[in-house]
Amino acid sequence: MHTIIDRRELTKGDMISITVEAPAIAKKIHPGQFVVLRVNETGERTPLTVAYKDEVHGTITIIFQVLGKTTAMLASLKIGDAIKDLVGPLGCDERFTKVGTVVGIGGGSGIAVLHHIMQGYAEVGNTLIGIIGAREKALLILEDEMEALCERLLVTTDDGSYGMHGLVTDALSRLVEEQVHIDQVVAVGPLIMMRAVCEMTKLYEIPTLVSLNPIMVDGTGMCGGCRVTVGGETKFACVDGPHFDGHKVDFDELMQRNMMYARDERTSLLTSIRAR
Ligand code: NAD
Ligand code: FES
Repeated sequence: MHTIIDRRELTKGDMISITVEAPAIAKKIHPGQFVVLRVNETGERTPLTVAYKDEVHGTITIIFQVLGKTTAMLASLKIGDAIKDLVGPLGCDERFTKVGTVVGIGGGSGIAVLHHIMQGYAEVGNTLIGIIGAREKALLILEDEMEALCERLLVTTDDGSYGMHGLVTDALSRLVEEQVHIDQVVAVGPLIMMRAVCEMTKLYEIPTLVSLNPIMVDGTGMCGGCRVTVGGETKFACVDGPHFDGHKVDFDELMQRNMMYARDERTSLLTSIRAR
C-alpha cells in the first residue's frame, strides 16, 4: 500500500497532483519513466508518468487528468488514503546528454511530463527554452516550475486568455523567425500537437523527441497493447519507449489505436459517476 501524503487540484478539478510514499521507486526512477498503478484490489492497471520524485522523503508525484473511471477513482482519494499497488519504474531510462539548446514543448497535461524530462536535460547542463500551452489560462499548469528551469518561457493559450494567443506551434514559429539556434526539441502533449510539432521540426531538420502514452495493459512488453510503429518497425512503448524519435513515429496509426476505447472509457466513467 502507498499512502497519499499530498493532494492538490491544479486546475478546475480535473487536473490533480498526488504525492505518494514509494521510496524504492523514488530511489530508482529517472525523468520520463512511468509507473503502473491499481487503485484498489479490483482496479484496472493504469500507467501514469511521474512528474517529480523526492528521494530524501521517498515520494513520487503523479499529475493526471480525470479522463476515465480509474483516474476519477484516483482523484476521489484524500490525503491519508492509500493506493493498492504501484509498479515501477517502467520504460527506458533515457540518458540525457548535453546537446546545447533544448526547446521543451508541453501541451495541457503533457506539461507535467515535459517538466520532469526538462529536469533531466537541465542536470547535464543544457540551455533550456520552454513552450507551454493550454486551451485557456485556467487549464495551464506548472508555469512557475517551468519558468524556474528555463532561460526563456513562452506561454500560449488557444483562446488568448493568457500569454500568446495561439497554439504551441505558433510559439515555435516565433523562435524559428527569431532565428534562435535549436539543437533539440522535446514535445509532450496530445498526439495531434506532437504530430504538428514534428511536421515543423522535420522541415527545419531539428531532432525531436516525443513521449508517447498509448494504451497500456501490463507495462512489461508482454501484451502488445502499447505497440507503435516507429521508422516502419513495431515498438512497444512500455519497454522500448516511452520516448521516440518523433520524425519516425506513425502518428496517424497511433491516433486510431488510441481512439479504439474512447467510447468504453466514457461509458465506464459515466457508470461510475452514476453509481456514487
Ligand atoms: P489540449 O487539447 O488542451 O491541448 C493542449 C495544447 O496543445 C493546446 O493548448 C495547444 O497549444 C496544443 N495543441 C493542441 N492541438 C494542436 C494542434 N493541432 N497543433 C498544434 N498544437 C496543438 O490538451 P489536453 O486536453 O490537456 O490533453 C493532453 C493530452 O496529452 C492528452 O491527450 C494526454 O493523453 C496527453 N498526455 C500525454 C502524455 C505523454 O506522456 N505523452 C502525458 C500526459 C498527457
Ligand atoms: Fe503491454 Fe506494453 S503495455 S506490451
